[in-house]
Amino acid sequence: MFEGNRVVAHTRSRFPIIQAPMTWIARSQLVSAVSAAGGFGLLESSARDLTVTTREFTAIRENTTAPFGVNLPVRFLQGDPAEEARIIDWLLGQGVHFVTTSAGDPGRYVQKLKDAGVIVYHATATLHGARKAVNVGVDGLIVEGAESAGVRNPDEIHSFALLQAVREAVDVPIVAAGGIVDGRGMAAAFALGAEGVAMGTRFVASVESPVHDNYKAAIVETPINGTFLMDSPPRARARGLRTQYALAVAAGTRERLPPMATLDGLYVGGDVQNTFGMAGESAGLIHGLKTVQAIIDDTVHGFWREIDRLAALRGPGSPG
Ligand SMILES: Cc1cc2nc3c(=O)[nH]c(=O)nc-3n(C[C@H](O)[C@H](O)[C@H](O)COP(=O)(O)O)c2cc1C
Repeated sequence: MFEGNRVVAHTRSRFPIIQAPMTWIARSQLVSAVSAAGGFGLLESSARDLTVTTREFTAIRENTTAPFGVNLPVRFLQGDPAEEARIIDWLLGQGVHFVTTSAGDPGRYVQKLKDAGVIVYHATATLHGARKAVNVGVDGLIVEGAESAGVRNPDEIHSFALLQAVREAVDVPIVAAGGIVDGRGMAAAFALGAEGVAMGTRFVASVESPVHDNYKAAIVETPINGTFLMDSPPRARARGLRTQYALAVAAGTRERLPPMATLDGLYVGGDVQNTFGMAGESAGLIHGLKTVQAIIDDTVHGFWREIDRLAALRGPGSPG
């Protein structure tokens, strides 16, 4: 199964299904569950606090022997060279074999990580970013289409065109992110040039996700047009739930909340309408809460079902 798949070779997981890094959410409980189920969990490290990252890392190692990786959000880490060096040294000291970089230029870290034998994938939402990352030597890319949840590039392109453009331009393995919740989306991503998928919103609405049940329920209930792209000054935008708060900020009738307010108000407090919970267009495809194991199993089975369905289109005796 997944014979010759480069993402599986790099991650050492059973399936080329990655759980996207998400601040506060992609911690031990979720990461362990994803890796134990045969996917590949990514621990987020955006708190820039090694005490938290070390605690979560240790907890994952205690929970499972399955492989997992760590995400480095470049922009959050850079600026303090001593702190940066401490984080990279810590990673190398833990024997982490797979790192993703996001939100910034991976060039700062790639050589040092690769010299130590670490596989590095970079997350990007643009063709330009993909080329740049490959030029500095990354081993693979996570290509995020405009459907994705979270902070978005203002020059965003949707996955259908973006994946094909990146596949034409580079040879490294591509993991598709954005709009994928199951095997059908995974098969489509593979047809467009991906060798793996990353899912964020789908894993937020999982039993093992640490967020408040109201947030999970809001994702399950969101219709296909239920997300909203909000300006996120100075340049970026962010995709999340179309809540009363998001609409009021966009209309200029309500002040923006401070950065961590959604974490307290929604993740912990469960207030969906007065916060801006991140969610991708994929939320409209999520119709129920599932365990992580069911998400991975259903995705793998659905993937092969789609591959068989498409292969059967040939019919017996068709040429070539
Ligand atoms: C709740 C939530 C929080 C996120 N936080 C981050 C983050 O901290 N850093 C990051 O690089 N991406 C973040 N993302 C984006 C994901 O990494 C990924 O690109 C996206 O979820 C893919 O689209 P999907 O949600 O449709 O699967 C977040 C996504 C969600 C749903």
